[in-house]
Amino acid sequence: MSSIVFITGATSGFGRASARRFAAAGWSLVLTGRRLERLQALQDELSAQVPVHIAALDVRDEQAVRQVVAQLPEGFRPIKALINNAGLALAPQAAHQVDLADWHTMIDTNIKGLVNVTHALLPTLIETGAGASIVNLGSVAGQWPYPGSHVYGASKAFVQQFSYNLRCDLIDKGVRVTDIAPGMAETEFTLVRTKGDQAASDRLYRDTTPLSGEDIAEQIFYVATLPAHININRLEVMPTRQAWSNFAVDRDKA
Ligand SMILES: NC(=O)c1ccc[n+]([C@@H]2O[C@H](COP(=O)([O-])OP(=O)(O)OC[C@H]3O[C@@H](n4cnc5c(N)ncnc54)[C@H](OP(=O)(O)O)[C@@H]3O)[C@@H](O)[C@H]2O)c1
Repeated sequence: MSSIVFITGATSGFGRASARRFAAAGWSLVLTGRRLERLQALQDELSAQVPVHIAALDVRDEQAVRQVVAQLPEGFRPIKALINNAGLALAPQAAHQVDLADWHTMIDTNIKGLVNVTHALLPTLIETGAGASIVNLGSVAGQWPYPGSHVYGASKAFVQQFSYNLRCDLIDKGVRVTDIAPGMAETEFTLVRTKGDQAASDRLYRDTTPLSGEDIAEQIFYVATLPAHININRLEVMPTRQAWSNFAVDRDKA
């Protein structure tokens, strides 16, 4: 029987590239996300290669998450790898200029959604045991502060600490946990963050060499297919052409 991967946010970016990467290696796929037509297109593309089960799912909906997991068809369990990828940044403005609703959406998706899916899938991952993996998509923003990161960065700091803490509880279950923390990667991320501003997204990635969805999918596949006795705790990945900058200092205006 082939190994089975469960991916959240498979309709775009890292999630979609991961679906293709795992399919290329012969894994069966459980693909979830809110946009059903994109899931169907991916199923059409990949089901000649491997078995593909799709489910439209908003990770913020605890009942729906439980239902999708309970209704996994025969042949799509036990799950060997959970890719907790669904997430988003909103409101790139300064903290005092953003809508509270955007902060709530990030907390509900990046923290509560990830927790909903993890809780629902832990029993099947533990059933798989040795070689099972949970790969959580954190971010460099979870470790390094920058203007406009406020709740987004804080939600990814949660992902890092939750990943480490899970490891403590799963130590004797064979289930690995990794926080993958990418830097700048060109996906639909900035389009979502700016609420559809394609020009702003293009500007951010212009004249440099960002990471691609495929670059991160390769890292996800790598950590999930290492020998069962190896756990990568955190993997921070930046483009070579991205690094940190100076501390900010506020000075008296002339
Ligand atoms: N791109 C970067 O620079 C970067 C850097 C570090 C970390 N990350 C993290 O990497 C992850 C993937 O981002 P990406 O760059 O691939 O962005 P993306 O292209 O915008 O993809 C995000 C995915 O998340 C899904 N999603 C969002 N809200 C959801 C919800 N409530 N329920 C279910 N699915 C939801 C989207 O699917 P639907 O809209 O169809 O639901 C989409 O498939 C995110 O957690 C992000 O924070 C990205």
